[in-house]
Amino acid sequence: MKFLVINGPNLNNLGRREIGHYGSNTLSEIEDLIRSKAEELQVEVEFFQSNHEGAIVDYLQSASVNSSGIIINAGALTHYGLSLRDALLDVALPVIEVHLSNIHAREQFRHHSVIVDIAIGQIVGLGSHSYLLALEYLAHEINKGT
Ligand code: DQA
Repeated sequence: MKFLVINGPNLNNLGRREIGHYGSNTLSEIEDLIRSKAEELQVEVEFFQSNHEGAIVDYLQSASVNSSGIIINAGALTHYGLSLRDALLDVALPVIEVHLSNIHAREQFRHHSVIVDIAIGQIVGLGSHSYLLALEYLAHEINKGT
């Protein structure tokens, strides 16, 4: 059972970008934490990050074929990325939207997500734990149904 963990624009700069909001872990440190959790849960994870919406759409179209679910932190694309939304709808896999920061406690434009209504749920504000909890949910709930 494989889950895709996708990070959008600017998340490649974690560790030095707005540490007050996003913490001091780099993306590769967060990916290591997710990998360890995946080993514990005995599931596979595949990571992808891009600063380009179209690259994420391309990735979803090709990688989703052999996958069971998606964990996505779409960065700012969360708030306006309609081609990303369409691609997620098209692949028709269970999606969990995650954010490091609590987007609902920040600027108004971050309160709206164009993908939350097509996701199983949204986990925000828990730093790297947002990803780990999403993976636990997918591993337990999706595994159960197969
Ligand atoms: C973010 C929140 C977004 O509003 C922002 O554009 C990001 C990071 C988060 O993880 O808290 O790039 O997705």
